[in-house]
Amino acid sequence: MKETGQEKVRIRRAWEGDAEDLLRLQRRLDRETAFMLLEPGERTTTVRQETEQIRRSFDTGNRTILVAEASGRMVGYLEARGGDYRRNRHTASINMGILQEFVGRGIGTALMSEAERWARQHGIHRLELTVMEHNEAAISLYKKMGFAIEGRRRESLFVEGSFVDELYMAKLLGRQEEHE
Ligand SMILES: CC(C)(COP(=O)(O)OP(=O)(O)OC[C@H]1O[C@@H](n2cnc3c(N)ncnc32)[C@H](O)[C@@H]1OP(=O)(O)O)[C@@H](O)C(=O)NCCC(=O)NCCS
Repeated sequence: MKETGQEKVRIRRAWEGDAEDLLRLQRRLDRETAFMLLEPGERTTTVRQETEQIRRSFDTGNRTILVAEASGRMVGYLEARGGDYRRNRHTASINMGILQEFVGRGIGTALMSEAERWARQHGIHRLELTVMEHNEAAISLYKKMGFAIEGRRRESLFVEGSFVDELYMAKLLGRQEEHE
């Protein structure tokens, strides 16, 4: 349990019964922020499919979905998805988002710390992600957590009328990397 201001924030693993709340949270993030992949209305996942995703996250051993709750309300999530094959099982890619009214209170740090703890326990050697190059808050969080910039996907996204570059960032576990 982490204290952020007056609210207690709890980080826990999502279970099947969270599917509806998780979808609602993701849809709200799609409307609130242009820093994630989907535009409002593009998320067509059903509750049944989301339930299946959560179930699969337990079955595969190299996936997890973590949620952050403040006063019992789901306010953020982090998904880590490991590769499907023996050669990339140890590499997990990360997606995360926190509701605007809850950013800047350490919830992102808490979610990422818990993801790293989970990863170390589940044989994950590499955490990776992509981030829009102008997403300063996210890049600061990832650098703080030891992620390094590895490359650039030039004009890979089209956001609000302009092409945007994404940065590849990654962290190898079991090794102290220099912050860039
Ligand atoms: C990016 C995001 C996950 C960060 O989560 P958060 O809960 O706000 O992060 P934290 O409060 O733990 O802050 C982590 C670090 O980020 C940095 N940071 C936070 N807000 C910042 C801002 N507005 N500008 C620059 N740096 C910022 C700080 O270095 C901070 O560490 P510190 O407080 O120890 O100095 C969150 O802002 C978010 O969900 N944004 C919208 C969706 C998104 O961008 N998702 C990521 C897509 S790749």
